[in-house]
Amino acid sequence: MDTGAVIEPTTNKAELYQQILEQVKAITFDETDAVANMANISAVLFHAMPDINWAGFYLYKQQQLILGPFQGKPACIRIAMGKGVCGTAAELMTIQRIENVHEFKGHIACDSASNSEIVIPVTLNGELYGVLDIDSPQFARFDDVDQHGLTAVVKHFESTLS
Ligand code: SME
Repeated sequence: MDTGAVIEPTTNKAELYQQILEQVKAITFDETDAVANMANISAVLFHAMPDINWAGFYLYKQQQLILGPFQGKPACIRIAMGKGVCGTAAELMTIQRIENVHEFKGHIACDSASNSEIVIPVTLNGELYGVLDIDSPQFARFDDVDQHGLTAVVKHFESTLS
């Protein structure tokens, strides 16, 4: 299996996301198993993104979110729709980018080290499939460049599902 080139340390965030996307494309090439792809995408993101403490997926099952492949400390397993940052992103099917999770009503603290968070819905044929969740110990860790880069990763993952 070609796992892609090693991601070079870089100070340019847009360039970092370009490398991340290339590695994700390489690592998912010709692979249709969703769990395997989510596991590898979580690993690529967790090791390539500076200042994060959790990266992974929740999957929409039984009208709720259930923990999927991830990297980081053990996390809450089931999240009701509309609850916390993940449940809000899932219910509204919109990206949630939260500068200070402690100010987010209903935030679910899986790891007390987390201070900011970005959650991107994953869809299949227009229906909710799950979410990609990234947490950081830094406040306001995620900006437009992160949102753009992670959205591209999610779009690529979605393309492997159909
Ligand atoms: N903080 C999230 C829960 C998931 S963990 O951070 C991995 C939330 O409020 O949805």
